[in-house]
Amino acid sequence: MSGNKVTVGNLQMNVVDQGSGRPLLLVHGFPLDHTMWQGQIAALASEFRVISPDLRGFGQSIAATSSKTTMREYADELAQLLDALEITEPVVFCGLSMGGYVAWQFYAHHRQRLAGLIVCDSRAVADNEKAAAGRLETATKVETEGSQVVADAMLPKLFPAAAVERDADFVTATKKVMLAAPPAGVAAALRGMAERPDFTKELAKIDVPTLIICGAEDAIAPPAEMKEIAETIPGAKYVSIAGAGHMAPLEKPAEVNAAISAFLKSLPK
Ligand code: MLT
Repeated sequence: MSGNKVTVGNLQMNVVDQGSGRPLLLVHGFPLDHTMWQGQIAALASEFRVISPDLRGFGQSIAATSSKTTMREYADELAQLLDALEITEPVVFCGLSMGGYVAWQFYAHHRQRLAGLIVCDSRAVADNEKAAAGRLETATKVETEGSQVVADAMLPKLFPAAAVERDADFVTATKKVMLAAPPAGVAAALRGMAERPDFTKELAKIDVPTLIICGAEDAIAPPAEMKEIAETIPGAKYVSIAGAGHMAPLEKPAEVNAAISAFLKSLPK
C-alpha cells in the first residue's frame, strides 16, 4: 500500500489508486499520511475506485515546500491530481480533520468535481487568536526541534485513553507516522491551518449529498459541534462511531466502512 508517484505541478505526489467504480478520494489528517486509511483502502476498493494521496510535505510526497501551505492550496493540488489521473467524473471527497478543512475548500473552489462530501472528525470554525498563535509557535519549534514536538502533544488527544494505555496497534502505527513526518511539511501545514477561513456560514449553502462521521469520544472535533454541522448542511446525514476517538476510521474500520459504503451507494448514478 505504498503508492505510486504522480506528477502534480512541481510535486511528485505519492498516491494509492486502487479498485474501480465511483472515485472516492480519501484525504488524511495532520500530521499523518495515507496510511491512516489502511482500514478503508483495500476494503472499499472492492466496490469503488479508492484514491488516497499523501498531501504535499507529508508521507512520501516530499518536495521543496514553502513555509506555509494553505487549505486552499492542498485542495487545488488535489483537483490537479484528479486531472493527472484523468478522472473527469464527479468524485466523493472524504477528509478527516485537516482533510476536512481541505474538503470545505475543495467544495468552495471545485464544487463541479463533487458527487458528494464526507467529513470525518473535523471542524468548520477557524482558529481563535490563541489557537492560531499557538500553531505559529509550534511551527517554529518543529523546524528547530523536529516533529516529535507535535507527536508528543497530539498523541494523547487523538485516541481514547484506554487505547493509548493498552498501546493498541493503531496507536503505535500513528505515533510512528507522526515521528517520521517531515518537519518542513508539518510546519507549513500548521501555518496554513492557523489562517484557514471560518466555514460555518457556508455550511447551509452546501448542495451536494454530505455525510458527517464522528468518533463518539473525539477530543479534538467535539461530537456536539459535528452534529451541529450535520444539522446545518441541508440533508446531511450524521453517523456517530461508538468507542472511537478522533481517528474513527483507523480505530473502527468496519463501522466507518459500512457508513461510507452505504453513503456512496445511496448517491444518484
Ligand atoms: C488533524 O487531526 O488533522 C488535526 O487535529 C487538525 C487540527 O490540528 O486542527
